[in-house]
Amino acid sequence: MNSSPEQSVYNYKVVRQFTVMTVVWGIVGMLVGVLIAAQLVWPWLNFDLPWLHFGRLRPLHTNAVIFAFGGCALFACSLYVVQRTCQARLLSDGLASIVFWGWQLIILLAALSLPLGFTSGKEYAELEWPIDILIAIVWVCYAILFFGTIMKRKTAHIYVANWFFGAFIITVAVLHIVNSLAIPVTATKSYSAYAGAIDAMVQWWYGHNAVGFFLTAGFLGIMYYFVPKQAERPVYSYRLSIVHFWALIAVYMWAGPHHLHYTALPDWAQSLGMVMSLILLAPSWGGMINGIMTLSGAWHKLRTDPILRFLIVSLSFYGMSTFEGPMMSIKTVNALSHYTDWTIGHVHSGALGWVAMVSIGAIYHLVPVMFDRKQMYSVELINVHFWMSTIGTVLYITSMWVNGIIQGLMWRAYNLDGTLTYSFVESVQASYPGYVVRLLGGGIFFLGMLVMAYNVWKTARSSETSR
Ligand code: HEM
Ligand code: HEM
Repeated sequence: MNSSPEQSVYNYKVVRQFTVMTVVWGIVGMLVGVLIAAQLVWPWLNFDLPWLHFGRLRPLHTNAVIFAFGGCALFACSLYVVQRTCQARLLSDGLASIVFWGWQLIILLAALSLPLGFTSGKEYAELEWPIDILIAIVWVCYAILFFGTIMKRKTAHIYVANWFFGAFIITVAVLHIVNSLAIPVTATKSYSAYAGAIDAMVQWWYGHNAVGFFLTAGFLGIMYYFVPKQAERPVYSYRLSIVHFWALIAVYMWAGPHHLHYTALPDWAQSLGMVMSLILLAPSWGGMINGIMTLSGAWHKLRTDPILRFLIVSLSFYGMSTFEGPMMSIKTVNALSHYTDWTIGHVHSGALGWVAMVSIGAIYHLVPVMFDRKQMYSVELINVHFWMSTIGTVLYITSMWVNGIIQGLMWRAYNLDGTLTYSFVESVQASYPGYVVRLLGGGIFFLGMLVMAYNVWKTARSSETSR
């Protein structure tokens, strides 16, 4: 492949590797998502094989989309942004290779061990202890690579995107190590070091901050670099970005107990979680406004630039899910939403609308740079992908909202004599149309990823260089 002078100044190899794997793992993870969505419509699709059962494929889906797809997007973008904004090559090419290959090995081990039924039983931290140790090692290498590059920067200040990446890297290390502490029994089985309500609290301190730092802070780092770049304008308010950073970091840590309303957790902890979640609305919207307003004076670009559309619409979904989250954390609202598909709708408005769409936008920006091309092979296909993602997300989340509210209301309906009005299976029957619509929405989103893969492939194969 031809390489530009930039490509030899910076280490683009590792960025290119992670960029390509983002698309690959996006397709794999979402395909498993479509399969489990289809199983909820046609349960026989588990073919009575243990490794194809919903209970085993569901964690495979969540791990693949969050840590393989989302993770590769975060590695690609952070390692690109840190080099460009610090005007320095990565600290070490060898360490970069260890991070790339180590992460792919972890993904492979997850893809094998989860369908086989090896699990710690902790949501989003299902992998067993040997894999957990490997994750900690690779993550420390990543931290050295990232912060080492910041240390050798040629610029005076550290651009705000790096603040968010830095917080994401440090916090995920702490969360992972503390929540994964366990007593191994065999090579494939361990028991948590914590017990009872403390175990639950540690787990959801981890779970919520995985949302806050893996699925939010890291992607905000992506937003702070790629939105101004793509819009060709400076970020709306640098001061707001600093306030946004500190407020978000300070508040997120305390909101975890909203996952444990009406449980054995002390009541004061539940209320604290609720109040902190409500406060979280302010920094979240501060960030969204900062991103969207970066476009002021350049709104017309949305008409012609589908990459910018991906980025800006992702921020709208971010705003929507960070409004919905605080509402769902109110105890009385949670009494209706908890255990229902409303939560699944909320998750995917964040996951598809925000995380996936901001990643896709950033990857479309990165691919031509990584392959030294002027632009993507087809801008029209990016536009097609944009509409498929938007329509897919809207179908997914609206069907789950409807399902969630139907389920919540049916489960709490009582007759005058105190008996339940509906049996559980009646609520499942009522949910059926929603599951069909979700499958359709998820299917459309997934097909959009195939369109992306084709476009990326054609861009990589084209002979035209950027010069
Ligand atoms: C084609 C796209 C997708 C489809 C069809 C899909 C489908 C599903 C389905 C059917 C479930 C199980 C719901 C249940 O248990 O009732 C699920 C759970 C989940 N998915 Fe997806 N998904 C997709 C994309 C994504 C992406 C891109 C992410 C993250 C970046 C994601 C994150 C999650 C999470 C975190 C859960 C667990 C939610 C919870 O426990 O509350 N999904 N998905
Ligand atoms: C201000 C921001 C947010 C707040 C206060 C918030 C709050 C909540 C609440 C109250 C729940 C339901 C807990 C339950 O009933 O079990 C929840 C679930 C969830 N949220 Fe959020 N949310 C926020 C933003 C987001 C974003 C942006 C994402 C994704 C990118 C996200 C991902 C999730 C996931 C994955 C779950 C399901 C956890 C599980 O039970 O497996 N949230 N959130």
